[in-house]
Amino acid sequence: MISIFDDSEQVARAAAERFVARARNAIDLQGRFSVALAGGSTPKRAYELIASEPFRDQIDWSHVHLFFGDERAVPRAHPESNYRMVYEKLISKLPIPTENIHRIVGEVDPRDSARAYEEDLRHYFEGKRWPRFDLVLLGMGDDGHTASLFPGTEALKDETAWVTSNWIEKLKMPRITLTAPALNHAAHILFLVTGRDKSARLREVLEGPFDPRRLPAQLIQANEGIVEWLLDQEAANKLQMKQAG
Ligand code: 6PG
Repeated sequence: MISIFDDSEQVARAAAERFVARARNAIDLQGRFSVALAGGSTPKRAYELIASEPFRDQIDWSHVHLFFGDERAVPRAHPESNYRMVYEKLISKLPIPTENIHRIVGEVDPRDSARAYEEDLRHYFEGKRWPRFDLVLLGMGDDGHTASLFPGTEALKDETAWVTSNWIEKLKMPRITLTAPALNHAAHILFLVTGRDKSARLREVLEGPFDPRRLPAQLIQANEGIVEWLLDQEAANKLQMKQAG
């Protein structure tokens, strides 16, 4: 499902609305809400909105569990840390218990971090073959990566682990990431993509041939849930579907 908005502010607002609706629904039905958050810059505005009125007070934060889709191998105070970004924009503004924050630790050996995070997830999703997040937020890089599933990397082949460390040759750095099957078992996957720099790659991902080694975002296909793309006009401007419409 693809939704196109006038600008990035409207994309952020739509993401905040979906976050609140999913959270309220999950808490009503199951007593808790699990969300895997995206890093990078695109979701920052959505996090700011979720952390402010009228969004914040619609959610009982004591029942919310915040997870992360991926993390960079840096300490939590580092400017590149996804945890730091999410802390500044969201966590620091919320009445949420610290035990509900499921951080991926960036400052230890990434293989140990991946193991520890998978253990945390297996504890939360007790007895499940795969995690079933109520909501996953994702971004897309202009090379077609999502979470830290980068083109041509080992993690793309992983069909059993929930979490893995992934060496990213072009960054000369490892990252820790949820695998595609772990993401794909979510109830609702929300991609946020904005800006003209991503329009050509977005067209390839959404309308080009299936080539996930080169375009890892194509691996994201919900098992039973839904995948929704929230785009602004600039990101969407090369889509045929849109031109035809
Ligand atoms: C990260 C991510 C990553 C991100 C894309 C898009 O840690 O960087 O989670 O997959 O979503 O790189 O990033 P931007 O929103 O900054 O363009």
